[in-house]
Amino acid sequence: MKDFIYSYPTKVYFGDKAAAKMLPAELAKTGKTVMLAYGKNSIKKSGVYDEICGYLKEAGKEIVDFPGIMPNPTYKKVQEGAALAKEKNVDFILAVGGGSVIDCCKIIAAQAAAEKDIWEMEFKDHVYPTEFLPMGAIVTASGTGAEMNNGAVITNEDTKEKAGVLGAYAEFAVLDVAYTMSLPPRQVISGAFDTLSHSMETYLGSPREVTLSDEIAEAVMRNVIRNIRLLLKDINDKEARTELMWASAMAENGILKIGKVTDFQAHQIEHQLGAYTDCNHGQGLAVIHPVLYRHICKDGVRQFARMAQMVWEISPEGKSEEELAEAGIEALAEFVKEIGLPSTFRDMGITDKSVLKKVADTCNLTAGCCKKLSREEVLEILEECW
Ligand code: NZQ
Ligand code: ZN
Repeated sequence: MKDFIYSYPTKVYFGDKAAAKMLPAELAKTGKTVMLAYGKNSIKKSGVYDEICGYLKEAGKEIVDFPGIMPNPTYKKVQEGAALAKEKNVDFILAVGGGSVIDCCKIIAAQAAAEKDIWEMEFKDHVYPTEFLPMGAIVTASGTGAEMNNGAVITNEDTKEKAGVLGAYAEFAVLDVAYTMSLPPRQVISGAFDTLSHSMETYLGSPREVTLSDEIAEAVMRNVIRNIRLLLKDINDKEARTELMWASAMAENGILKIGKVTDFQAHQIEHQLGAYTDCNHGQGLAVIHPVLYRHICKDGVRQFARMAQMVWEISPEGKSEEELAEAGIEALAEFVKEIGLPSTFRDMGITDKSVLKKVADTCNLTAGCCKKLSREEVLEILEECW
């Protein structure tokens, strides 16, 4: 295990009527002007908007409305939010939505407190923000785990990059599954697959010997698989949705990463695909994972074989380590089909094949823990995904 420091800045309020129970006390600590940030119209349709506005008004807050944060939030939207926050002297940002809204707000919180352009600071100067407007998050779509980390994935339309930017941690996060029940079934499943993806990408990191973090990751993966299967029988199964909501936070709150260097190559490829196609994140991952894993299986054979046994419950009997590893990857590919997620980019509705080269050219891959992929290998993987 690698050395680590662990501390957690986000207070999580999890469960039934969590907002009603805790928002008044949390809002009592914030300044007067609160930016209420959200997506297009789901929270208005579901009644969550009116409910949250009610708590804000009862607490005597002035509300600065910031609607229209899109899936795959853009850097322009970040700048729009930061300018509004400065103009209205916002004291606190309340993000109400899924990963996109929460991510956008993390960077608004940083940009509103900074003189310099955050993108330039982070990607050119390699300087990371240390001051932020305080923020809180109310989750309406789970899967990304965005509410419990300070990473945000933002699309810069000018440079055609979808990249991880470091921003604010939410001071508190409200996770009440009731707020997610209006999500379309496909988004529920693709969000849950995102959680599985985070766990796999962390698991396949280094070091190679099995750590406590890996064993917790195995439990998270089994939990996600079991609960997605329960949702195939009843998409409104509240217990399963609740389990998945906590699994989502667990997969991205740093606990699985303790003592590890992670391998997020599927994410890096998918993010860049998102920059060119604005695709759904979980669906993109569902297509990429099995194909990528077939490519790197030999390089991480021990971990893939262990995953086959511990997560996909495949018997090692009569199989070589390599056969076991491959059987696990095929179980993953079958699972993607079983849960109704796409297996090709065309299934996702992507029509322009010429984007694949652009994605391969611009994909900014880290070392990767099983194998550092070359541009040619990324292109090969993308073409197999087509
Ligand atoms: O805009 P509205 O109308 O709210 O509709 C949204 C959106 O269209 C809808 N939705 C959200 N809550 C709903 C609802 N519809 C009905 N009822 C509800 N309760 O769902 C759609 C998708 O929302 P979005 O926030 O985009 O989904 P998700 O939570 O999957 O977030 C995806 C984004 O998070 C990034 C992804 O790259 C992508 O940009 N990620 C963030 C991570 C992080 N910060 O840790 C990690 C992830 O790996 C991921 O990259
Ligand atoms: Zn993800």
